[in-house]
Amino acid sequence: MKLKYLSHSSFLITTSEGKTILIDPFLDDNPNAPISSDEVPADYIILTHAHGDHLGDSFKIAERTNATFICVNELAEYCASKGFKAHNMHIGGAFNFDFGRVKFTIAHHGSVTPDNVYGGVAAGVLITIDGKTIYHAGDTGLFYDMKLIGEMNDIDYLIVPIGDNFTMGIDDAVKAVEFVNPKFSIPMHYNTFPIIEADPFEFKNKVEKSGKKSIVLEFGQEIEIM
Ligand code: NI
Ligand code: MN
Repeated sequence: MKLKYLSHSSFLITTSEGKTILIDPFLDDNPNAPISSDEVPADYIILTHAHGDHLGDSFKIAERTNATFICVNELAEYCASKGFKAHNMHIGGAFNFDFGRVKFTIAHHGSVTPDNVYGGVAAGVLITIDGKTIYHAGDTGLFYDMKLIGEMNDIDYLIVPIGDNFTMGIDDAVKAVEFVNPKFSIPMHYNTFPIIEADPFEFKNKVEKSGKKSIVLEFGQEIEIM
């Protein structure tokens, strides 16, 4: 599969069979987005929570692509109420989709839509495709259960926020990497707005000092996950 960083918390996964899974597509109002909502593909849209910088352009994209939303129940109901296809899940639950397995984890954060509808709880998500597991932590502070998630799952890629203020900052994110013990870590949720300015290479250097691997993806960069 391929993993492409669309900046902020947004990633596009393309499976070896050509299925596309879009995560938290905040593009058109995001100064760092390398692609617009008119051109991004999506068979599925996974949302970690309802905040505007995660729900983003989801509805515009789903209208064009007929994508199915995958998110916690309250947010899935919200998407369904707007006329979109949605698969309702919740924290701790996993489901085998035609592209792979999705499991929602806790995240310590809020979740309300831009038009002020309660979006359930915020979540992180484990995505397993072709034997590789990506853990997108969503927006969250550091929490000790990340150690349990790391113990119970063989995480290949941990995608973790570093921008501080709304989520973990760099030092907490480095601790998260220690807890989860992934093969690689990728920083996200930084430099979109002045208030979340952070140096991803400071994160990478600190992670590598502890003997672990980190990859800083450029906005728009795609890597092959094998
Ligand atoms: Ni948020
Ligand atoms: Mn956010």
